[in-house]
Amino acid sequence: MIYIERKERFSAAHQLYNPNWTVEQNDAVFGKCANKNFHGHNFTLVVTVKGEINPDTGFVMNLVDLKKIIQNLVISKLDHANLNHDVDFMRGKFTSTEVLAEEIWKILAPAIAEHKCQLHRIRLEETMNNAVEYFG
Ligand code: NI
Repeated sequence: MIYIERKERFSAAHQLYNPNWTVEQNDAVFGKCANKNFHGHNFTLVVTVKGEINPDTGFVMNLVDLKKIIQNLVISKLDHANLNHDVDFMRGKFTSTEVLAEEIWKILAPAIAEHKCQLHRIRLEETMNNAVEYFG
């Protein structure tokens, strides 16, 4: 089994907010992230795919194909978007990095499986210091 990785970047706005809570409760838990006027991040998405080497190409998966899948299915929807309002697959969900990583997994896993490979990991970096890893 060999692992390959593709890194993409996007910028997006969001607000962390629990609609069932008071403003005070939201501020206490989410702090500045609950700002009603939103705030933004420059995200880095790292997609790791595993599989066996194809004897016809020497590749696990053509990285050009992987790039297109990530760009078309995920980055095009997230880049310069408001995660709370603009993104169909985030509607009604918390826009935390954890939830976003799970939703990205659900979208990418079947598309990657079509290439006879398996999605292994989604790593989503929200800041230089904060990141989430999801293994399905
Ligand atoms: Ni944030």
